[in-house]
Amino acid sequence: MASIRNIVVLTGAGISAESGLATFRGPGGLWEGHRVEDICTPEALARDRALVQNFYDLRRAALRTVAPNPAHEALARLDREWDGELLIVTQNVDDLHERAGATRLLHMHGALHSALCEACGERTAWTEALSDGPPCPGCGRAWLRPDIVFFGEMPYEMERIYAALQRCDLFVSIGTSGAVYPAAGFVQEVRSNGIQTLEMNLEPSAGSTLFDESRLGPASILVPAWVEEMLQ
Ligand code: OAD
Repeated sequence: MASIRNIVVLTGAGISAESGLATFRGPGGLWEGHRVEDICTPEALARDRALVQNFYDLRRAALRTVAPNPAHEALARLDREWDGELLIVTQNVDDLHERAGATRLLHMHGALHSALCEACGERTAWTEALSDGPPCPGCGRAWLRPDIVFFGEMPYEMERIYAALQRCDLFVSIGTSGAVYPAAGFVQEVRSNGIQTLEMNLEPSAGSTLFDESRLGPASILVPAWVEEMLQ
Protein backbone atom coordinates (compact mmCIF):
# COMPACT_ATOMS: atom_id res chain seq x y z
CA MET A 1 0.00 0.00 0.00
CA ALA A 2 2.85 2.37 0.83
CA SER A 3 4.00 2.36 -2.81
CA ILE A 4 0.59 3.34 -4.18
CA ARG A 5 0.33 6.81 -5.59
CA ASN A 6 -2.10 6.74 -8.51
CA ILE A 7 -5.54 5.16 -8.20
CA VAL A 8 -8.36 4.48 -10.65
CA VAL A 9 -11.74 3.62 -9.11
CA LEU A 10 -14.49 2.17 -11.30
CA THR A 11 -18.02 2.29 -9.91
CA GLY A 12 -21.27 0.69 -11.03
CA ALA A 13 -24.92 0.54 -10.02
CA GLY A 14 -24.11 -1.37 -6.80
CA ILE A 15 -22.62 1.74 -5.18
CA SER A 16 -25.97 3.54 -5.51
CA ALA A 17 -28.14 0.56 -4.50
CA GLU A 18 -28.16 1.53 -0.82
CA SER A 19 -29.29 5.03 -1.80
CA GLY A 20 -32.43 3.41 -3.21
CA LEU A 21 -31.58 3.27 -6.93
CA ALA A 22 -32.22 -0.17 -8.41
CA THR A 23 -29.32 -1.97 -10.07
CA PHE A 24 -29.64 -3.16 -13.67
CA ARG A 25 -29.26 -6.89 -13.34
CA GLY A 26 -30.30 -7.74 -9.79
CA PRO A 27 -33.77 -8.80 -8.67
CA GLY A 28 -36.11 -5.85 -9.12
CA GLY A 29 -33.51 -4.39 -11.48
CA LEU A 30 -34.11 -1.23 -13.43
CA TRP A 31 -34.92 -3.10 -16.59
CA GLU A 32 -37.79 -5.09 -15.09
CA GLY A 33 -40.69 -4.95 -17.48
CA HIS A 34 -38.43 -3.60 -20.22
CA ARG A 35 -35.80 -5.44 -22.19
CA VAL A 36 -32.59 -3.39 -22.24
CA GLU A 37 -32.75 -3.46 -26.05
CA ASP A 38 -36.19 -1.80 -25.92
CA ILE A 39 -34.86 1.22 -24.09
CA CYS A 40 -31.16 1.73 -24.25
CA THR A 41 -30.33 1.80 -27.97
CA PRO A 42 -30.38 4.40 -30.77
CA GLU A 43 -32.79 2.08 -32.64
CA ALA A 44 -35.25 2.12 -29.73
CA LEU A 45 -35.14 5.91 -29.66
CA ALA A 46 -35.86 6.04 -33.39
CA ARG A 47 -38.68 3.47 -33.10
CA ASP A 48 -40.45 4.69 -29.96
CA ARG A 49 -39.09 8.05 -28.85
CA ALA A 50 -41.83 8.59 -26.24
CA LEU A 51 -41.06 5.27 -24.47
CA VAL A 52 -37.34 6.04 -24.20
CA GLN A 53 -37.85 9.68 -23.17
CA ASN A 54 -40.44 8.72 -20.52
CA PHE A 55 -38.21 6.00 -19.14
CA TYR A 56 -35.30 8.39 -18.61
CA ASP A 57 -37.59 11.22 -17.43
CA LEU A 58 -38.69 8.91 -14.60
CA ARG A 59 -35.07 8.01 -13.78
CA ARG A 60 -34.10 11.71 -13.76
CA ALA A 61 -37.04 12.64 -11.53
CA ALA A 62 -36.15 9.79 -9.13
CA LEU A 63 -32.80 11.47 -8.42
CA ARG A 64 -34.69 14.10 -6.40
CA THR A 65 -35.78 11.42 -3.95
CA VAL A 66 -32.37 9.88 -3.19
CA ALA A 67 -29.15 10.98 -1.49
CA PRO A 68 -25.51 9.84 -1.48
CA ASN A 69 -24.72 6.98 0.92
CA PRO A 70 -21.55 6.37 2.99
CA ALA A 71 -19.79 4.73 0.00
CA HIS A 72 -20.18 7.88 -2.16
CA GLU A 73 -19.14 10.00 0.82
CA ALA A 74 -16.04 7.90 1.45
CA LEU A 75 -14.91 8.23 -2.19
CA ALA A 76 -15.47 12.00 -1.95
CA ARG A 77 -13.27 12.00 1.15
CA LEU A 78 -10.58 10.08 -0.74
CA ASP A 79 -10.87 12.66 -3.53
CA ARG A 80 -10.33 15.51 -1.04
CA GLU A 81 -7.51 13.93 0.95
CA TRP A 82 -5.55 11.72 -1.48
CA ASP A 83 -2.54 13.67 -2.74
CA GLY A 84 -1.63 11.28 -5.54
CA GLU A 85 -3.57 10.96 -8.77
CA LEU A 86 -7.13 9.71 -8.52
CA LEU A 87 -9.76 9.16 -11.19
CA ILE A 88 -13.24 7.93 -10.29
CA VAL A 89 -14.75 6.45 -13.45
CA THR A 90 -18.44 5.81 -12.98
CA GLN A 91 -20.72 3.80 -15.23
CA ASN A 92 -23.61 5.34 -13.31
CA VAL A 93 -25.78 8.05 -14.82
CA ASP A 94 -26.94 9.33 -11.41
CA ASP A 95 -25.31 12.35 -9.76
CA LEU A 96 -24.61 10.87 -6.32
CA HIS A 97 -20.80 10.99 -6.58
CA GLU A 98 -20.81 14.71 -7.32
CA ARG A 99 -23.48 15.41 -4.72
CA ALA A 100 -21.21 13.73 -2.16
CA GLY A 101 -18.45 16.13 -3.26
CA ALA A 102 -16.29 14.06 -5.66
CA THR A 103 -14.62 16.15 -8.35
CA ARG A 104 -12.00 13.87 -9.92
CA LEU A 105 -14.89 12.08 -11.59
CA LEU A 106 -15.87 11.04 -15.08
CA HIS A 107 -19.24 9.67 -16.28
CA MET A 108 -18.28 7.18 -19.00
CA HIS A 109 -21.93 6.24 -19.74
CA GLY A 110 -23.23 9.82 -19.71
CA ALA A 111 -25.49 11.46 -17.15
CA LEU A 112 -29.21 11.85 -16.47
CA HIS A 113 -28.60 15.52 -15.70
CA SER A 114 -27.40 16.21 -19.21
CA ALA A 115 -29.23 16.44 -22.54
CA LEU A 116 -27.67 15.80 -25.94
CA CYS A 117 -28.96 17.57 -29.06
CA GLU A 118 -29.18 15.19 -32.00
CA ALA A 119 -29.31 18.16 -34.37
CA CYS A 120 -26.25 20.19 -33.28
CA GLY A 121 -24.43 17.78 -30.92
CA GLU A 122 -24.40 20.23 -28.00
CA ARG A 123 -24.53 18.79 -24.47
CA THR A 124 -26.53 20.87 -21.98
CA ALA A 125 -27.01 20.53 -18.20
CA TRP A 126 -30.63 19.40 -17.83
CA THR A 127 -32.79 18.58 -14.80
CA GLU A 128 -36.32 18.62 -16.26
CA ALA A 129 -38.29 16.24 -18.50
CA LEU A 130 -37.38 15.74 -22.16
CA SER A 131 -40.52 13.93 -23.31
CA ASP A 132 -42.38 17.15 -24.08
CA GLY A 133 -39.77 18.04 -26.72
CA PRO A 134 -38.13 21.22 -25.34
CA PRO A 135 -35.93 23.22 -27.75
CA CYS A 136 -32.14 22.86 -27.62
CA PRO A 137 -30.62 25.97 -25.96
CA GLY A 138 -27.89 25.85 -28.62
CA CYS A 139 -29.76 25.54 -31.94
CA GLY A 140 -33.44 25.85 -30.94
CA ARG A 141 -34.49 22.57 -32.54
CA ALA A 142 -36.52 20.02 -30.57
CA TRP A 143 -34.07 17.16 -30.90
CA LEU A 144 -32.87 16.72 -27.34
CA ARG A 145 -32.33 13.17 -26.08
CA PRO A 146 -30.94 11.84 -22.80
CA ASP A 147 -27.15 12.23 -22.76
CA ILE A 148 -26.78 8.53 -22.01
CA VAL A 149 -24.42 6.22 -23.88
CA PHE A 150 -26.71 3.67 -25.49
CA PHE A 151 -25.69 0.12 -26.37
CA GLY A 152 -23.70 0.28 -29.59
CA GLU A 153 -22.42 3.82 -28.88
CA MET A 154 -18.90 4.77 -27.76
CA PRO A 155 -18.56 5.58 -24.03
CA TYR A 156 -17.21 9.02 -23.15
CA GLU A 157 -13.56 9.90 -22.49
CA MET A 158 -12.05 6.49 -23.26
CA GLU A 159 -8.64 8.02 -24.09
CA ARG A 160 -8.48 9.71 -20.70
CA ILE A 161 -9.57 6.51 -18.95
CA TYR A 162 -6.97 4.31 -20.67
CA ALA A 163 -4.25 6.89 -19.97
CA ALA A 164 -5.17 6.84 -16.25
CA LEU A 165 -5.25 3.01 -16.28
CA GLN A 166 -1.73 3.00 -17.77
CA ARG A 167 -0.43 5.30 -15.01
CA CYS A 168 -2.20 3.82 -11.99
CA ASP A 169 -0.69 1.62 -9.28
CA LEU A 170 -4.06 0.41 -7.99
CA PHE A 171 -7.32 -0.32 -9.79
CA VAL A 172 -10.44 -0.65 -7.65
CA SER A 173 -13.82 -1.83 -8.91
CA ILE A 174 -16.92 -1.18 -6.79
CA GLY A 175 -20.49 -2.45 -7.26
CA THR A 176 -20.39 -3.54 -10.87
CA SER A 177 -21.35 -6.93 -12.30
CA GLY A 178 -18.60 -6.89 -14.94
CA ALA A 179 -21.18 -7.65 -17.63
CA VAL A 180 -20.77 -4.58 -19.86
CA TYR A 181 -17.69 -3.74 -21.92
CA PRO A 182 -15.45 -1.80 -22.21
CA ALA A 183 -15.57 -1.21 -18.41
CA ALA A 184 -15.60 -4.97 -17.76
CA GLY A 185 -12.25 -5.20 -19.57
CA PHE A 186 -10.40 -2.62 -17.44
CA VAL A 187 -9.21 -5.24 -14.93
CA GLN A 188 -7.58 -7.31 -17.71
CA GLU A 189 -6.03 -4.15 -19.13
CA VAL A 190 -4.29 -3.27 -15.85
CA ARG A 191 -3.39 -6.85 -14.93
CA SER A 192 -1.19 -7.07 -18.00
CA ASN A 193 0.80 -4.14 -16.53
CA GLY A 194 1.17 -5.81 -13.12
CA ILE A 195 -1.00 -3.25 -11.35
CA GLN A 196 -2.69 -4.13 -8.04
CA THR A 197 -6.41 -4.78 -8.31
CA LEU A 198 -9.20 -4.84 -5.73
CA GLU A 199 -12.89 -5.58 -6.13
CA MET A 200 -15.62 -4.63 -3.65
CA ASN A 201 -19.03 -6.07 -4.45
CA LEU A 202 -22.01 -7.69 -2.80
CA GLU A 203 -21.22 -10.94 -4.62
CA PRO A 204 -18.41 -12.11 -6.92
CA SER A 205 -18.68 -10.31 -10.27
CA ALA A 206 -18.19 -11.95 -13.68
CA GLY A 207 -14.47 -11.05 -13.57
CA SER A 208 -13.96 -11.64 -9.87
CA THR A 209 -11.14 -14.16 -10.24
CA LEU A 210 -9.09 -11.62 -12.21
CA PHE A 211 -8.70 -9.38 -9.15
CA ASP A 212 -5.82 -9.74 -6.66
CA GLU A 213 -8.31 -9.24 -3.85
CA SER A 214 -12.08 -9.45 -3.66
CA ARG A 215 -14.00 -8.07 -0.68
CA LEU A 216 -17.64 -9.11 -0.48
CA GLY A 217 -20.33 -7.07 1.27
CA PRO A 218 -22.32 -3.86 1.00
CA ALA A 219 -20.48 -0.87 -0.45
CA SER A 220 -21.62 1.37 2.42
CA ILE A 221 -19.49 -0.72 4.80
CA LEU A 222 -16.60 -1.84 2.57
CA VAL A 223 -15.77 1.46 0.87
CA PRO A 224 -15.46 3.65 4.01
CA ALA A 225 -13.25 0.97 5.60
CA TRP A 226 -11.00 0.80 2.51
CA VAL A 227 -10.73 4.62 2.27
CA GLU A 228 -9.74 4.75 5.95
CA GLU A 229 -6.98 2.18 5.22
CA MET A 230 -5.72 4.19 2.24
CA LEU A 231 -5.56 7.46 4.15
CA GLN A 232 -3.83 6.09 7.22
P1 OAD B 1 -25.35 -4.26 -12.62
O1 OAD B 1 -26.78 -4.13 -12.20
O2 OAD B 1 -25.05 -5.11 -13.79
O3 OAD B 1 -24.49 -4.80 -11.40
C1 OAD B 1 -24.57 -4.24 -10.12
C2 OAD B 1 -23.60 -4.99 -9.20
O4 OAD B 1 -23.65 -4.36 -7.93
C3 OAD B 1 -23.92 -6.46 -9.00
O5 OAD B 1 -22.73 -7.23 -9.18
C4 OAD B 1 -24.39 -6.54 -7.53
O6 OAD B 1 -24.01 -7.75 -6.89
C5 OAD B 1 -23.66 -5.36 -6.92
N1 OAD B 1 -24.35 -4.76 -5.76
C6 OAD B 1 -25.66 -4.65 -5.53
N2 OAD B 1 -25.90 -4.03 -4.37
C7 OAD B 1 -24.68 -3.74 -3.84
C8 OAD B 1 -24.23 -3.10 -2.63
N3 OAD B 1 -25.09 -2.63 -1.74
N4 OAD B 1 -22.91 -2.98 -2.43
C9 OAD B 1 -22.01 -3.47 -3.33
N5 OAD B 1 -22.37 -4.07 -4.47
C10 OAD B 1 -23.68 -4.21 -4.72
O7 OAD B 1 -24.82 -2.77 -12.84
P2 OAD B 1 -23.51 -2.26 -13.62
O8 OAD B 1 -22.41 -3.26 -13.53
O9 OAD B 1 -23.24 -0.89 -13.15
O10 OAD B 1 -25.20 1.05 -18.86
O11 OAD B 1 -24.05 -2.22 -15.11
C11 OAD B 1 -23.18 -1.75 -16.12
C12 OAD B 1 -23.96 -1.00 -17.17
O12 OAD B 1 -25.03 -1.80 -17.65
C13 OAD B 1 -24.67 0.24 -16.68
O13 OAD B 1 -23.82 1.35 -16.59
C14 OAD B 1 -25.75 0.45 -17.68
C15 OAD B 1 -26.18 -0.97 -17.94
O14 OAD B 1 -26.56 -1.22 -19.22
C16 OAD B 1 -25.85 2.10 -19.40
O15 OAD B 1 -26.85 2.59 -18.93
C17 OAD B 1 -25.23 2.62 -20.64
